[in-house]
Amino acid sequence: MKALVFGSMNIDCVYQQDHIVCPGETLSSLSFARNAGGKGLNQAIALAKAGMETWFAGNIGEDGLFLKDLLEKNGIRTDFVRTGETPSGCAIIQVDKNGQNAIVLYGGANQTATEAQISETLSAFGPGDLLLMQNEISCGRELLTAARAAGMTVAVNPSPVSPDLLLWPLETADWLILNEIEGAALGKDGTPEEMLEALEKKYAGARVVLTLGEDGSMARDGDHLVRQASVRVPVVDTTAAGDTFTGFFLHAMMNGSDIADALDRAARAAAIAVSRPGAGASIPTRDEVD
Ligand code: RIB
Repeated sequence: MKALVFGSMNIDCVYQQDHIVCPGETLSSLSFARNAGGKGLNQAIALAKAGMETWFAGNIGEDGLFLKDLLEKNGIRTDFVRTGETPSGCAIIQVDKNGQNAIVLYGGANQTATEAQISETLSAFGPGDLLLMQNEISCGRELLTAARAAGMTVAVNPSPVSPDLLLWPLETADWLILNEIEGAALGKDGTPEEMLEALEKKYAGARVVLTLGEDGSMARDGDHLVRQASVRVPVVDTTAAGDTFTGFFLHAMMNGSDIADALDRAARAAAIAVSRPGAGASIPTRDEVD
C-alpha cells in the first residue's frame, strides 16, 4: 500500500509577533524565519513519519528545491515533483504570543498542476493506494475525480475553503478531514455535533472527521459518536497541527486501527507539533508519538 500526496509545497515566511496585525497597523516582528511548509508537504511528512510509504506530486520553482530535498530527507519519493519557471508557493504566516497564527497564501507553482500531470501521476497508483489531497493546488476537482476513477482510497482535507470547493464531488471521497471553519462553510454553522451531522448528510458516503483545535476532534464509528480531547501542552506554534493530525490519523486507519485509537494517536502527534516552532519541522516521529 502506497500513499500519494498530490499537493502544495510552500516557502513559509514566519513572523513572530505580539498579536496578529490589525487593518491599518504597522507592526515590528519579534523574529523572522523562512521555513518549509504547505499543507501538502506537511501532511506528506506526517504520513511518512507515521510509517507510511509516501510519494509526493506537485510543483515548485527553482527557489523551492530545498522543499523537494526535505521531502527526500524524510524518505518520501519525489518522482512526480516538477520544477518549472513559476516561483514556488509562498505563505506569510504571523504567529502571535499565544501560538495562534494567521496565514496569507500565494499559490505560485502550486497553481500550475494540470490534468495531464494528474493522469501521468495517477497511472502509477491504483486500488489499495491512498490519495491525500488538500485545496492549495489547481485542478483539485479533477484530481479527486481521477483518483476515484483509479480506484484509490481518497482522503480530502478541504483546506483552505474557496468558492469552487462547493462544486467538488466531496461525497465521493472516503474521508473528509476538516476543521470548524471549513465545516461551517461546507456544512452548517452551529455546535460541532450539528456541523458533523450536516456534513455527513450532505456528503453521505464520506466518513467525516471534525477537528476542533484545543477542543479536540470528533468522528462517528458506526452509530457511536467518538469524541477525542486534545492533549494539553504549552503552545509555541499551531502551524501544521492539523496537517500532523491528518497524517497520523490516516496512517492509523489505513493500518487497521479503530477510529478511537486513530483519533487518540493523531491528537498526541498534533500536541507535539504545537509545542514546537515551524510547520514541516515541527512534526514528530512515530517513536516520539509512542
Ligand atoms: O497548514 C499549515 C500550512 O498552511 C503552512 O505550512 C502554509 O504553507 C499553509 O499552506
